[in-house]
Amino acid sequence: MTNWKKRSPQEIQERIKAALKQNRSFYEEPILGMPASYLDSRIFPKDSPILKGAPFLQTLINNPNHIGCHTLTQSEETFKGTQEIERDLLEIVACDIFKAEKGKFDGYVASGGTEANIQAVWIYREYYKQEFKAKHEEIVILCSEDTHYSLSKASNLLAIDIRRIPVDPENRNMDMKGISLVLKESMAAGKKYIIFNCNMMTTMFGSVDNLDLVVSELKKTGLEYKIHLDCAYGGFFYPFSKPDSNLNFEHQAVTSITVDAHKMVQAPYGTGIFLIRKGFIDYTHNHDASYVKGEDYTLIGSRSGANAIAVWMILNTYGKYGWQEKSFILKRRTDWLCEKLDELGIDYYRNSFSNIVAIKAPFITKEIAEKYYLVPDNHHKPKWYKLIVMDHVDLEQLEPLLGDLSGVSETV
Ligand SMILES: Cc1ncc(COP(=O)(O)O)c(C=O)c1O
Repeated sequence: MTNWKKRSPQEIQERIKAALKQNRSFYEEPILGMPASYLDSRIFPKDSPILKGAPFLQTLINNPNHIGCHTLTQSEETFKGTQEIERDLLEIVACDIFKAEKGKFDGYVASGGTEANIQAVWIYREYYKQEFKAKHEEIVILCSEDTHYSLSKASNLLAIDIRRIPVDPENRNMDMKGISLVLKESMAAGKKYIIFNCNMMTTMFGSVDNLDLVVSELKKTGLEYKIHLDCAYGGFFYPFSKPDSNLNFEHQAVTSITVDAHKMVQAPYGTGIFLIRKGFIDYTHNHDASYVKGEDYTLIGSRSGANAIAVWMILNTYGKYGWQEKSFILKRRTDWLCEKLDELGIDYYRNSFSNIVAIKAPFITKEIAEKYYLVPDNHHKPKWYKLIVMDHVDLEQLEPLLGDLSGVSETV
C-alpha cells in the first residue's frame, strides 16, 4: 500500500482547487466547440455561499466531462486537472485495495455496478471474437444463482447466453459438483469461451464465491476462460474485514473488477468503478469516437468529473487506516447483531466477514419488514429478508428491531 494517505480538509481543498485551475473553465476561458457549459447559473450561481469550502460542489458547477479512459490515453486536455484526480483515485482502488501493480491496469468511474459489469462482459466478448473468431453462441457467462441481475442484462444486451450455477440454500456456496455440471452442460451446448463472474459479497446474502474452486474446475475443461470479480457491494468492505482474501489482482486468474463507491463509501450515485488488467480495455476501443481526444473505450460516454472527485475526497479524508477502522466498527456491530439473533433463536445467513444479514422469512412479519424497510429476496414469495449494517444502522436502530423480533421468535 503506497498511495492512500489521510489528508486534511485544507489539503483536499487545495488539491482540487489546483485541479480545477488546470482544467479549462467555462466561466473564464473560451470553450466554443463543446455541447456543454457550467451548470445553469440562474439555478446554480457561481458565487453561492454554499460553494465556499465545498470542492465537490465547486467541481459539480464547473461541470468537467470525464469522457474516455484516462489511464490509457491522453484524453480531452480541457479537463486534465480533474482527470488526474480520477487517475489517483483509480490507483488507490486498484493498487491499495485490490493489489494491482502500479501502471498495470486500466479503468474508469462508471455510472454504477451495472455498467461496470456490462463493460467487463463486453470486453471479454470482443476479446473472444477478435482473438479466437468466436461466435456469440460459443460464448457463455457463468455465475452463481445469487449473482446480481446486471449479468443477465449483460447477457441480453450483448447477445450471449448466461448459465447460473446453483448454490446451497443454507450456506449459499456453489460446490464442485454444481460448477462441474454446468460446465459440462455448457460444453455439450457448444460453448467454448467462458466469462465467469465471481462475487465478493452478493446483493442479497453478502456471500463470497470460492475463487480457487472455480479456477480449478475451469482448468479441468481446457476451455478459454476469463474471470471478472463483481465486488460492487463488497469491494470497499471485504478486503478490510478479511485482509488475507485472495479476490484481487494478485490472483493471476482475475482479469477485471467492479466496485461501487455509491454503496459502502456513501459517495453520490454515479460512482461505480471498473478496473481491468492492461491490454484488455483495448478490445472495446471505439474508433468512431473520432471527435473525442483519445477516443473512447467505455460504455457510458460523457460522465461527470465531479463523481471521481467525491470518491477521491472521501477516501483521502479517511486514509487507509481510517477506512480499516470504519469497516472494523461495522463488522463488530454486525457481530453484535448476530449474537443477539442467536440468543433469540432466529435463523439467518451471514458470511462472517460481511455486514449483510439475511433473516429467514418466517421470522419477519409484514409489519416488521415495512417498519424497518427490510428487503426481501423476492417481493412475491419472500424466503429471506436482508438488512445491511451501514454507517447509519447503529445499535440505537438495531435495538428496537431486536425487540420486535423477540415477540415473533416466540411464535415461530
Ligand atoms: C453485487 C452487485 N453487483 C452489481 C450491482 C449493481 O449496482 P448498481 O445498482 O450500482 O448498478 C449491485 C447493486 O446492488 C450489487 O449488489
